[in-house]
Amino acid sequence: MAIMRPMKLAGSELLFGQGCLEHVKALKGTRAMIVISGGSLKRNGILDKVQAYLKEGGIESEVFEGVEPDPSFATVMKGAKAMLAYQPDLIVALGGGSAMDAAKGMWIYYEHPELKELADIMPPNSFPTLRNKAKMVCIPSTSGTASEVSRSIVITDDKKIKHGLGNMEMMPDIAICDPEVTASMPKKITAETGMDALTHAAEAYLSRRANYVSDTLAAQAVKDVFQYLPKAYEEGANLDYREKMLNASMVAGLAFTNVSLGIVHSMAHTLGSYFGLAHGLLNAVILPYIIEYNSADPAAKKRYDELAASVGETDFAAAVRNLNAKMDIPTSIQSLVPDKAAYEAVIDGMAEMALADGCTKTNPIIPDVAGFAQLFRTIYQG
Ligand SMILES: [Fe+2]
Repeated sequence: MAIMRPMKLAGSELLFGQGCLEHVKALKGTRAMIVISGGSLKRNGILDKVQAYLKEGGIESEVFEGVEPDPSFATVMKGAKAMLAYQPDLIVALGGGSAMDAAKGMWIYYEHPELKELADIMPPNSFPTLRNKAKMVCIPSTSGTASEVSRSIVITDDKKIKHGLGNMEMMPDIAICDPEVTASMPKKITAETGMDALTHAAEAYLSRRANYVSDTLAAQAVKDVFQYLPKAYEEGANLDYREKMLNASMVAGLAFTNVSLGIVHSMAHTLGSYFGLAHGLLNAVILPYIIEYNSADPAAKKRYDELAASVGETDFAAAVRNLNAKMDIPTSIQSLVPDKAAYEAVIDGMAEMALADGCTKTNPIIPDVAGFAQLFRTIYQG
């Protein structure tokens, strides 16, 4: 099978493993704007460490703090303004998916102050060229989103609608994946982001665009998540488990950013928009149902059976449910959205949104609006 869509595996530098944070010393630049969410990376000393390494490398730095979960366009513009004042030649995103996505967004509007609106970078407008002013460095503090090796961002607009944007220009130049940076993640975040990584791997493996390289990466990520996520969840201070999870998340990211995802993500994006629930948690709950739904396609069923066999199981949906149960993840949406009437009232709107989501077109089976509505009911009731 010829691959006609060029694969791009990370930016120009990809570092991983315990201690690779030290590579920050070797970065080339004069001024770095570090983008973080909140105080946890200050309290655990990681921010200090990054700033000390930058200083050692002769790079001065400033911190932009205050990226919220599900970052808003207002935060993106605020950060871009801070960058326009500071004129960094390096942007260092230090944090989870929100900090990294926001920093990638700020980068665009810093490079192009003539752009003012989110719509300015969305189709039919062409995507602007980056790297005229700064290079992007991502240092993930969670193991799941893989924004450090992805071309995409999710930004929430003024009307609280989440927009997923993807363009290869946004692939970070440098990804530094040091497990120490993830070691203080709380259990709940470990579980939810870890299940996001598993969903990336499983959906990439089942993608209509899956290929030899993406399969190799995704299959390994599935095996490692099954083996090491429960361990990292129980024993978060163990850097070997953290390293396995961060590497698994990263290679799942290399796969999915090239071959895209499926309707677990379409439905999770939609539910996240409507009910403000965490992305990884939604993926974890939805994934087993979609494995069952997609298994109506014999070729997809065969692929799930391969994944199940690789983790010593026969039923992949059941294996995912067991993994969820080990981490106290609920079995249906009901407990997350207790108001059933409110949920029922928006099902048609959610079905339309999920159908239009960019992840839908690579799913093995593509539901219509009624099909999505049925799926939203199924995942609710359990
Ligand atoms: Fe995801």
